[in-house]
Amino acid sequence: MIGLFDSGLGGLTVVRRVRERLPRADLLFFADQAHVPYGERAPDELDRLMRSNVAWLDARNVDAIVVACNTSCAVADAYGWPQTHAEIFDLIDSATIALQRASARRIGVVATSATVRSGAYGRRIRNAIADAEVWEVAAPALVPLVEAGRITGDEPRVAVAEVCAQLPDDLDAVVLACTHYPVLAEHFGGALGVDVLQIDPALIHAERVAALIDREGGGEGSGTTRYVTNGDVALFRRNVASIMGEAQPLVEERATLAF
Ligand code: DGL
Repeated sequence: MIGLFDSGLGGLTVVRRVRERLPRADLLFFADQAHVPYGERAPDELDRLMRSNVAWLDARNVDAIVVACNTSCAVADAYGWPQTHAEIFDLIDSATIALQRASARRIGVVATSATVRSGAYGRRIRNAIADAEVWEVAAPALVPLVEAGRITGDEPRVAVAEVCAQLPDDLDAVVLACTHYPVLAEHFGGALGVDVLQIDPALIHAERVAALIDREGGGEGSGTTRYVTNGDVALFRRNVASIMGEAQPLVEERATLAF
């Protein structure tokens, strides 16, 4: 079984990519919706939440912990990942691999405020690509729009355009460095134009997980995804059904403080 976590619905964009790669694997996705959005929280608190999410999945004997939250990866860049039985997959590593493969040099990063404040993306990209120029922009308005299901029409289009207007012209690539943003990919495409490559780190992320599962097993299950939230279960069920296109998703409730 493969475990994934995020603060909320954004993680579903990673679940989708992992499912494409591993159709028969069993997936367990936890959305910490009692604490969404993560992007406005302080590093100490984000570190605590990340450790709790990782420990919860690790205690369920998953074969891999696929982090579906860039903000948690940014905090782990400073605080380190906890010790676990399962290998942890970090989205910033996946994004960096994608940028290297694309030979990108002028790079935009759109992320949560906490991720941008950490500087983790800029540091890791420059370490991997010596002559990279990186511009990081925070987009605090976007996660609440996705969580509320307001993803079509003028409101999200204008919000995305305002963020992209803060980036310089002539970029090679823009990283959608929050897993909620691929839900708004169409608006990013409209604002950035066809010449700028949109990088969704989840694609390489899923490829890396699939490589581990190929080597070590764990991909032969019943192809079931369990979606767990500590937020509003009925709303979560509706959003999972619509984003994942599943008529009756297997949704479970987890008490906020239960471990
Ligand atoms: N989806 C998460 C990320 O990738 C966190 C968004 C939030 O809760 O602010 O950063």
